[in-house]
Amino acid sequence: MCGIVGYIGKNNAKDVLIEGLKRLEYRGYDSAGIAIVNDQTKKKVSIVKAVGKVAALAEKSQKRALNGSVGIAHTRWATHGKPSVANAHPHSAGRITLVHNGIIENYQELKNILIKKKHIFTSETDSEVVAHLIEQECKKKNFEDAVYATLKQLKGAYALGIINSDEPGKLIAVRNSSPLVLGVGDGEYIFASDPSAIIQHTKDVIYLEDGEVVIATASGYTVKTLTQKIRHRNVQKLEWNDEQAQKEGYAHFMLKEIFEQPHAIADALRGRMEIGEGLARLGGLRSVTDELREIERIIIISCGTSYNAGLVGEYMLEEYAGIPTEVEYASEYRYRKPLIDKHTAVIAISQSGETADTLAAIREAKRKGALTLGIVNAVGSTIARDTDAGVYNHAGPEISVASTKSFTSQLSILVLLTVLLGRQRDMSFTMGKRILTEMKRIPRHIDTIAKQDKKIKKLAQKYKKYDDLFYLGRKYNYPIALEGALKIKEISYVHAEGYAAGEMKHGPIALIDKDLPSIIIAPKDSVYEKTVSGIEEIRARRGKVIVITTKGTKELEKIANDIIEIPKTLEMLMPLLTVVPLQLFAYHFGVARGLDVDQPRNLAKSVTVE
Ligand code: G6P
Repeated sequence: MCGIVGYIGKNNAKDVLIEGLKRLEYRGYDSAGIAIVNDQTKKKVSIVKAVGKVAALAEKSQKRALNGSVGIAHTRWATHGKPSVANAHPHSAGRITLVHNGIIENYQELKNILIKKKHIFTSETDSEVVAHLIEQECKKKNFEDAVYATLKQLKGAYALGIINSDEPGKLIAVRNSSPLVLGVGDGEYIFASDPSAIIQHTKDVIYLEDGEVVIATASGYTVKTLTQKIRHRNVQKLEWNDEQAQKEGYAHFMLKEIFEQPHAIADALRGRMEIGEGLARLGGLRSVTDELREIERIIIISCGTSYNAGLVGEYMLEEYAGIPTEVEYASEYRYRKPLIDKHTAVIAISQSGETADTLAAIREAKRKGALTLGIVNAVGSTIARDTDAGVYNHAGPEISVASTKSFTSQLSILVLLTVLLGRQRDMSFTMGKRILTEMKRIPRHIDTIAKQDKKIKKLAQKYKKYDDLFYLGRKYNYPIALEGALKIKEISYVHAEGYAAGEMKHGPIALIDKDLPSIIIAPKDSVYEKTVSGIEEIRARRGKVIVITTKGTKELEKIANDIIEIPKTLEMLMPLLTVVPLQLFAYHFGVARGLDVDQPRNLAKSVTVE
């Protein structure tokens, strides 16, 4: 996820900004840049950008005389356009220079209008459009009013740091759905995406709220609302050290990323749902719209957690888009004799976009003439480049090795893909609308589940002594049983088995006794009664049972040892909710056993070898 730093004060801005960017490196990025008001009297802004590490930017900046006490800087995690110097921030348009974190949903529409007004764009980004829009508004208005006039036109999420060479002693920062913190120092003000870039200068901060605009000069700052009313905000003292600041106070990145899921899902959906029409719009697939209409079969290839997401996708795509779908481990698929024709679409799901097996499998499918698509989180990654078309997750970087927010983000994209393909076929407008309406509620539902964190922690402590666990689920939640078990294996090194609940009686039930607890996913869905029979069979053999079920399912209280409740939603969307308590359970289970949950032994975040 992009990182922003802004500085206005009495010191050399360059040093503060480069140091700030280094502290934001953990967020993940592919390029970086800095803009300094180099000479206030001559109204001159100098910009330096580099692809790759902040160290490369620092080296490039050394060669330039960047002296000034006002500036903005950015680490870019590509969303619109590949990682390149042209796409790196800051972006300029005439007197305006800015950095942006977030996604401007209506940028294409705005860009088309600006092109008609003779604006010339030098990048593929949505962010550059904002700079041009402010510049356009500045023709008739003062800087501050031009920013406000621009904000009224933007749809989407943004944190912005803006400078104007005509008013070189001013820095304007805006927050709307993307994080931004203001550090209040002694005669200096620092803006940053998180406090880790501020803490070495001051512990006095204001966490800006959505819709807040800060106008800062070297002698003070004003916080205003979107309606230009002054807002008095109290300064808060940071209690964190540097490392805690990067994790935003969470004990581990894994926990932070679990809690980030509502936001990551909202980002995956942003600008992609036309609820009123019951339609999903995936810009990355626009170029293959006609081919998508012709698809008669889908093969999903992926590894690890991404494979489990694919399995959920299989249920969705078959039930709602009516397209026969198979899911296969990439490592298996690449050595098979793939039976593919031109009506087959092969979809690679990959967080990193660099997994060697997935890449090899997609290349093989391409050679055989399949339409290849990607659902990828890392923009510009090899899988994203090698597929014919694709959809980015926009989940932001995932640092913990065990994948959490990427998984629910992948599921969200699969929901959108199902609606897109379904509506090209038999799916009614009403059904499309219903799925999207419910999907929009998922982030809020996850917030509700996350509130049970303390309860789940207690449960993990209660069960931490067990060295074997069973995870059972059916239909949409069978893949969630696999994912729950995978999380436990990765984080706790405890043997866990994920199984289709209906298969229990064909062998695994022989394992059940008082020492093998089962975690059963049994929401009120079309297979609920059948799953409950499975619970009874386990209880009859003295097996302990934790049940994940829908709120208000009272009858389970009598048979389960422990219950975790989730809110109601459509059956096809249940996996987005049922997986969350399992992620939290695995996290607390690993912590309770004293393990390094963010970097489990023997595992790598991105497996780039076969
Ligand atoms: C590794 C990671 C897993 C991940 C898998 C697939 O094994 O540890 O968390 O699910 O690779 O990675 P991808 O980047 O292709 O989704």
